[in-house]
Amino acid sequence: MKTASRRDPTGYSRLVGDGHYADAPSGLWGKFDNVRRNWENQITRFAIRPALAHITRQAHAAGRGIRITDLGCGAGEGLDLLLKVPVGAEAVRGRYLIGCDDLAAYHGIDLCPTMITQATRRFATLPQASFAVGDLADLGQLLRGHPPFDLYYNSYGSLSHLEDGQLRRMIDGVLQHQSGPCVVLIDVHGQLSPEWPAYWNYSCDANAPRMQPYNMVWMYPEAERAARLDEQKGYRVRYWRGDELRQYLRGIPGVVERQRSLTLIDRSVLVGRHMDTACFRPGCKPLRRAVNALFEFNQISTPDDLRADDLPSTGDAQADAFFAGYILAWNTLVDWFGRLVSGHHPPAPADLCSAGGPVPAVLREGLEALVEQSKRLAWFNPGDPEANLLQPQFGLLLRQLEFHTQQGLGCGHGLLAVLELGSVTGQR
Ligand SMILES: C[S@@+](CC[C@H](N)C(=O)[O-])C[C@H]1O[C@@H](n2cnc3c(N)ncnc32)[C@H](O)[C@@H]1O
Repeated sequence: MKTASRRDPTGYSRLVGDGHYADAPSGLWGKFDNVRRNWENQITRFAIRPALAHITRQAHAAGRGIRITDLGCGAGEGLDLLLKVPVGAEAVRGRYLIGCDDLAAYHGIDLCPTMITQATRRFATLPQASFAVGDLADLGQLLRGHPPFDLYYNSYGSLSHLEDGQLRRMIDGVLQHQSGPCVVLIDVHGQLSPEWPAYWNYSCDANAPRMQPYNMVWMYPEAERAARLDEQKGYRVRYWRGDELRQYLRGIPGVVERQRSLTLIDRSVLVGRHMDTACFRPGCKPLRRAVNALFEFNQISTPDDLRADDLPSTGDAQADAFFAGYILAWNTLVDWFGRLVSGHHPPAPADLCSAGGPVPAVLREGLEALVEQSKRLAWFNPGDPEANLLQPQFGLLLRQLEFHTQQGLGCGHGLLAVLELGSVTGQR
């Protein structure tokens, strides 16, 4: 019997086979959900922008390109992030602080060979990009033969995979390698995040293991998470408090002597990944999902979805004071926005942001812009102006609240430390 020809005259089967006709990945969950793209990447960019601007100016003045190494680079996501750091108020040369033309080298290191294969493939056409498999604890050795870098970068908790001794060896490796002024970004998990009350202050107990359970089941659709939990039960990471990380860095010989500045920044305070999985806090309100929906086309988050619950005491007075003020400001904004979109005359931004008021003054302009926008929605017809015009902007306003009020205490899913070092010769 003759088999039917499998030739496809339309050419579409290839597209189907390559996954283009599978369900589009949603912005509501997964590695590249809306919060990662619109909130976390951008907070990371804001955090690093002043230091990046400084080393970029320095490289330009010396007539050379900027050199970056990415520690725990994954598939090279760091390069995507760094090439989109907005210039903001410092705009002189375009929209982003650095472009491919400004880059002399981007060298990624990761322990996972599959990640390195993927990164190499993704950046095959960028001659300045190179990748190598290696353990960050052996950074000194791995960087031998490479000229010093301007930026020793990493993102999304890569350095929480290292035990304290390994992280110290890695930083020693940077100190040995560095010669001129440079920036070291340290991206770890925050210990005081509302996602995991069982970890709050565990490292104050000298006997508690420094590495504690973690998992990444949030990468999978909700229905698959329970099964994946078992696969990932051996996974351990280090969770850090801000003051602890500061002290730890100061204890590494060479850091204090060369340190120009050290800035700590909390990222994803109420919107960490595990707010949605509730793996570490049963019954936790899925606020990340609600904020993801703010940014999703044709999706609505209601004030009830977005209101944050009060937290019990973390056992850290500074963190408690921060959370009390932050949650009050967050919920005030949520209620204000609810009234705005339902036509119930919300309080004037000037009153909300007045001295001693619940919302920081820096948000006033954004609130006023939203009020103006809410009066000009008729052009968006047919459509859903609340879901597609106002809610995404409200999401950005909440992000601004986080960036302008966080205190780098370790109260977010992520804790960033931006360490600026002077040159080895002692020039700060
Ligand atoms: C959370 S992922 C972050 C990936 C990427 N930087 C990003 O922004 O999405 C952590 C990465 O650290 C890598 N990693 C874990 N332990 C490591 C080690 N000891 N040395 C080098 N890389 C490591 C993992 O393979 C993984 O790619």
